[in-house]
Amino acid sequence: MSNHLQNLNLKIWRQDGPADSGRFESYLVGSISDEASFLELLDVLNEQLIGEGQDAIAFDHDCREGICGTCSLMIDGQAHGPQRGTATCQLHMRKFASGDTIVVEPWRATAFPILKDLMVDRSPLDRIVEAGGFITAATGGAPDANIIPIPKPVADAAMDAAECIGCGACVAACPNGAANLFTAAKVSHLNLLPQGQAERWSRVEAMVETMDEYFGSCTNHGECEAACPKSISIDFIAMMHKDFRRAKVKNRTLISQI
Ligand code: FES
Repeated sequence: MSNHLQNLNLKIWRQDGPADSGRFESYLVGSISDEASFLELLDVLNEQLIGEGQDAIAFDHDCREGICGTCSLMIDGQAHGPQRGTATCQLHMRKFASGDTIVVEPWRATAFPILKDLMVDRSPLDRIVEAGGFITAATGGAPDANIIPIPKPVADAAMDAAECIGCGACVAACPNGAANLFTAAKVSHLNLLPQGQAERWSRVEAMVETMDEYFGSCTNHGECEAACPKSISIDFIAMMHKDFRRAKVKNRTLISQI
């Protein structure tokens, strides 16, 4: 029994820099184990290219364990490829067959300009987190985890939202380039918990308004949920919109009391 794939044809987006118009280039890679990850496939190709004196393909990666959210490839037109609930680094070559042609592109979104080849600038996501993705608490020793009782459904929902790894697949998959699923996850994991209540209303207002500066509007396509490597539910978007509307009233009331 062979565990190797032969003759994979790769069509990969190459772009020298932000000002370059870019183009697809074709590569042939052989003897790839079906146990290899997609990023290992690119590693093998890069060794091949370097050996031939060519420029290696630039692509983002870090943990390679589905945790950090750094990997970000559009594979055959799907953010993170054909396996649902899976980041690119956790996608394995057994999802493909020998002889396949695989098209690899960077995230395509106006808010994510291409830096080089398959790397994009996702810093607009950082701007959203900076606007409110934190709690203000005194530093010091960590309190006992059970000191604040939290109902299990609330804790479970907060943990589901906190699974967001910030990869930006939701933006890349959305026809409008909206970041609502990302923002909703970041808002909700704090707004659901007691520790997040002090800044609940200012947080949601600031994060949504920052999101609107950079990204398109959500029109409920649901592509974000399908592309999310952590399968985060679009229910969080509804939760965020509800909190945002309430914040608009509450924040105005609070300001009038100062
Ligand atoms: S490299 Fe960290 S999630 Fe893929």
